Amino acid sequence: MARRVFSGIQPTGAIHIGNYLGAVRNWARLQDQIDSYFCIVDYHAVTIPYDPREMPTRVFEAAVDLLASGIDPQKCTFFIQSYVPEHTELCWIFNSFAPLGALERMTQFKEKRDQFRESVNAGLFTYPVLQAADILLYKADLVPVGEDQLQHLELCRDIARRFNYRFGAAFPEPEAELTPAARIMALNDPTRKMSKSIPGSYVNLSDSDDAIRRAIRTAVTDVGPRGAEMSSGVANLFTLLAAFSAPETMARFRNEYDAGTLRYVDLKNQLAEDLVRAIAPIRARREELMAHPERVWQIMDAGAERARAIAVQTMAEVREKMGLRRGGR
Ligand code: AMP
Ligand code: TRP
Repeated sequence: MARRVFSGIQPTGAIHIGNYLGAVRNWARLQDQIDSYFCIVDYHAVTIPYDPREMPTRVFEAAVDLLASGIDPQKCTFFIQSYVPEHTELCWIFNSFAPLGALERMTQFKEKRDQFRESVNAGLFTYPVLQAADILLYKADLVPVGEDQLQHLELCRDIARRFNYRFGAAFPEPEAELTPAARIMALNDPTRKMSKSIPGSYVNLSDSDDAIRRAIRTAVTDVGPRGAEMSSGVANLFTLLAAFSAPETMARFRNEYDAGTLRYVDLKNQLAEDLVRAIAPIRARREELMAHPERVWQIMDAGAERARAIAVQTMAEVREKMGLRRGGR
């Protein structure tokens, strides 16, 4: 039985229904079942070019969206990474346990190296080491993530194993829990993932009713004649229907599809209205929190304090095992 969960999300500002279904909704379920730590990873976000004037808003909006969509600071420890400096301290320690070859093989690193050719830095390279520090600082043994993070998790286990072997058992070897929801595809291009970086591809939790309806109405369904297989655009709409509509509704549209009588406009109208209904309360909570920033910062400060109490203990143990700072203190 897992004892503790850790997961992180980058502060990319307002979140979309892909983030919600792919990560946040799952976190909200886990916090009811097990001791959970959820973190906005701003130190990870500085490894690619960014504007420092925008960062506070990105972090704040991520905090607000997560709180509005069900992350409950009474049930979990929810905090911002840079408020707990032990993350970077443990990252430095772990740098001495991370094999260069493994870091060079990381797919995410290779992609970003190609994307940011002129500004590839060591932070991008050791990004997965910081991620291992995030998880192991709390000795978490379960990490809910998408498939793209499995390689980073494997490195995390490798680092834990090497540390334990060299300096004595300190860390668990955390397992990934693959997010149950399928990948949500871009509404306007269902061959790609729904993403902040593709305009028109997403619905945000902050979108107005009309913006939601417009995005669904213009979603790509079939391009060209209808084939034997369901097109990826239609499949994507069915995935969203399964997430946001009643099971009977889903079954009815599925039957119509199988019978060849489904009109996409009906499917879209239904989905749009169910999305509007699901998002409205989240948006209302979001607006309430946006209007009271001091309340949000108070929640985040309290979260960091709780996280830090554990982080300080782990670092003392690590230093002690490594013969640093006279007994680790
Ligand atoms: P990102 O902003 O891409 O780093 O994603 C933050 C979290 O949301 C990660 O856990 C992703 O796996 C998840 N996520 C992002 N985009 C999607 C998507 N289109 N479908 C499902 N999950 C997603
Ligand atoms: N790298 C993760 C992503 O891009 C974010 C992340 C940072 C994370 N630290 C973590 C995820 C620790 C899980 C556990 O989505």
